[in-house]
Amino acid sequence: MSTISEYVAANRERFIDELIHLLRHPSVSADSAYSQDVLNTAEAVAEALRDAGCDAVEVCETEGYPIIYGEKNVSEDLPTVLVYGHYDVQPPDPLDLWETAPFEPEIRKTALHPEGAIFARGASDDKGQFFMHIKALEYMVRHNALPCNVKFMIEGEEEVGSTSLSAFVQANREKLANDVILISDTGMIDRDVPSITTGLRGLSYVEVAVTGPNRDLHSGLYGGAVANPINILAKMIASLHDEDNRITIPGFYDKVRELNPKERELLAEAPFRLEAYKAALDIDAVYGEKGYTTNERNAIRPTLDVNGIWGGYTGEGAKTVIPSKAHAKISMRLVPDQDWKEITELFASHFRKIAPAGVRVEVRPHHGGQAYVTPMDHIGYQAASLAYAETFGKKPVPQRGGGSIPIVALFEKELQSKTILMGFGLDSDAIHSPNEHYGLYNYLKGIETIPHFYRHYTALAQSGA
Ligand code: BES
Ligand code: MN
Ligand code: MN
Repeated sequence: MSTISEYVAANRERFIDELIHLLRHPSVSADSAYSQDVLNTAEAVAEALRDAGCDAVEVCETEGYPIIYGEKNVSEDLPTVLVYGHYDVQPPDPLDLWETAPFEPEIRKTALHPEGAIFARGASDDKGQFFMHIKALEYMVRHNALPCNVKFMIEGEEEVGSTSLSAFVQANREKLANDVILISDTGMIDRDVPSITTGLRGLSYVEVAVTGPNRDLHSGLYGGAVANPINILAKMIASLHDEDNRITIPGFYDKVRELNPKERELLAEAPFRLEAYKAALDIDAVYGEKGYTTNERNAIRPTLDVNGIWGGYTGEGAKTVIPSKAHAKISMRLVPDQDWKEITELFASHFRKIAPAGVRVEVRPHHGGQAYVTPMDHIGYQAASLAYAETFGKKPVPQRGGGSIPIVALFEKELQSKTILMGFGLDSDAIHSPNEHYGLYNYLKGIETIPHFYRHYTALAQSGA
């Protein structure tokens, strides 16, 4: 019989090798050139669950990529934890900015990670993080230390909007029934500042196009006499924020739940070093909505950002041209109780309204999802808090996350259960960026912390807390 810390120490090299094996699969869901690789990754995940001791493992076919489902039942009288994660990853480009190839994982030491970090696409988001749960399960099964039932659901389309998963959840409510959902797909504040994410922002993602003349024009012959779609688009986008950096779309803030002073105080307890933040990004000032701190701006306040903008001539040299069309992709991060479909509508009608005569505007919604908040008085939060306290030696700080996992709000609606976000990544992991990495410290600490969650959760559930 070994404790989880002894088990992690004894199996350290194998745990690292197994994760590296998984990271070699280029499971890019956004690009169909990788579709066979995504399917192979699904099989690899199923095998890892079988090896770890799941009784029933299924590769569930969908209209998109398969969902891997697995379970280990102990007793009907015990609670059931559902673990969710995603085996798909973001596209790796721009490739030339990677120090080593994105799908040839390499361990390197950094200032923040003196023990080393694994560099590979998906290392932190989310392969390294869901794999911790599979290794934690392996320990619990082999040591007869699984105190409750567990179900795993690992999908392959999170980075492209979880399209198939929504239908799967709606069609399999009974199969997925659980007492609490556990996800490691977020971060913590620092390696010595454990934290639990208590909220995720919602999202509305739209694409816009502004069309002027029916063809590209000579900018000397026509310049000054017709609307230039790029000039107009830039002007329209600029008008979406006022001088206090508030969003100008009428009704945008109507449903925003403001935090009371006590809630703001609690969030302000999360340590934040402005100088280090600026230095890490090479910026000389932060920028954002007036009246809010940086931590508030990127977590409890809604935003509107251009993600890409294009049109006209962008090749080598100069070409004098007024383009016929200009485009932009725009994301809005939302907070409770904004409704993403309503916000998408508000955006579309406002954007059409502010277009001057002489251009046509199209707004095409992509995907979206609702924001989510985990109540801190939930026994799942308390169990997670006790678990981190055991392995990090201090109580974790609650932190609202700025990113989105849209399926979480749907889990609550369809399965009536709360999600606990036990993330072990760091903001510096460079998720979605070149040189994504995951600290070995974070990976191994995660595996060590997870079994404590199960023990505390079951104890709290049984004591009727
Ligand atoms: N794991 C991230 C979300 C995340 C990261 C939340 C860190 C909080 C902290 C997830 O894989 C992701 O990237 N989500 C997308 C949304 C999705 C619809 C493409 C996002 O937030 O942009
Ligand atoms: Mn993720
Ligand atoms: Mn992601």
